[in-house]
Amino acid sequence: MPNQRTSRVPGPSCMAHVALSNWIPNGSNPITSRDVRTYTQISQNISPVPKSKSGGRGRASQFPIFSSTCSYFIGIPHIFSDEATEMIGFIQGEIAGEKLVAGDVFPKTLMPAAASGGDLANLVLEEREHLFADLRRHRALLFRGFDVSDAGDFHRAVEAFRWEAIEMKSSASTRTKITSRVYSANEAPPEQLINFHHEMPLMTEMPRMLFFCCGEPSPQGGETAIVASDVVVQRMDERMPEVMAKVAEVGLVFSIKTASDAEAADSETVVNRTWKSLLGTDDETEAEKRLLEMHESCSSVKFLSNGSAELVFGPTNPVREFSGRRAWIYPILGFAGDRRSVKNEFGDGSDFPAEALDVYRRILEENCVDVNWQKGDVLLLDNLAVQHARRPGKPPRRILASLCK
Ligand SMILES: [Fe+2]
Repeated sequence: MPNQRTSRVPGPSCMAHVALSNWIPNGSNPITSRDVRTYTQISQNISPVPKSKSGGRGRASQFPIFSSTCSYFIGIPHIFSDEATEMIGFIQGEIAGEKLVAGDVFPKTLMPAAASGGDLANLVLEEREHLFADLRRHRALLFRGFDVSDAGDFHRAVEAFRWEAIEMKSSASTRTKITSRVYSANEAPPEQLINFHHEMPLMTEMPRMLFFCCGEPSPQGGETAIVASDVVVQRMDERMPEVMAKVAEVGLVFSIKTASDAEAADSETVVNRTWKSLLGTDDETEAEKRLLEMHESCSSVKFLSNGSAELVFGPTNPVREFSGRRAWIYPILGFAGDRRSVKNEFGDGSDFPAEALDVYRRILEENCVDVNWQKGDVLLLDNLAVQHARRPGKPPRRILASLCK
């Protein structure tokens, strides 16, 4: 059986590529420091990685450790883990503004290897296990340069991961269902900012995976910004230790309102569904029962005269831990650009300081990456690890979304 890794070498053949691909030890062979020295000597003779067809700086994932564009790959333990996730059908790309989170690039950009074809769904089927490992490690994967031209292609790519779909019927914003698992993303005018949040963070069944697909990029702005939520928690610990200690001790009470009748009638509103529209009932008793079922941490519901309902959560810690990583779950800034629709206070009834909200907002901005969309991009987020936001953009920006369990 031929050495599988030989077929992983992308781009033009050269002696150095062949030498390196033949040298890389198979499977679980332990890599010694001597191996690394040999690898280094070989890699120094590798020709530059060719420019990708999508215009990004292509970065061959086969040689991630010593690539000149990969200064963040340091140390032998890292070599081990990256070796474990290399893939045949993909090469690693790069986007402007990408960051390092705990030493790993965020997001990781994947593009089709030269001989792999551009069918994302097929490649996902072939490399699913590696992609799972990459997602766990990098938190966010951006697939760029594949043949994803419509909702059907996007649907097939999502389906290939074989995660169970989640319906978006409980979304507080208007969504149009396009296929059984593909919806329009928020349909509020693209000029509207949507603040950082985990997707549907207050639901009893919070989606684990979130996909976006770019049908049409905004001619200006309209990026989807993403941030590692564990980094946000860590920075809050560092910069607001007293607030974080108090939150841990007495909890946070967070409340958020569904749209009022007036907001639902306003096409500019981001959160635009009333509780009646959301739940399909006018009966407050039945609505309260359903809202409490849908929102595990919801402690009470208040129906307001303007047609809105106020859902109160907690007191509880807004930080939760998933698989060893912490995440700031409560959208304390609200989903829309203003703070009027949300209220935060400590569990003992005292005010949550405005300064803490401002620091939280600054931390989000300092640590986020703006993903500047290209048509056909597919972005996969671990929704338990990553918050996302929508930057103001312009028509005809069109983004599709899909949620998975
Ligand atoms: Fe969202």
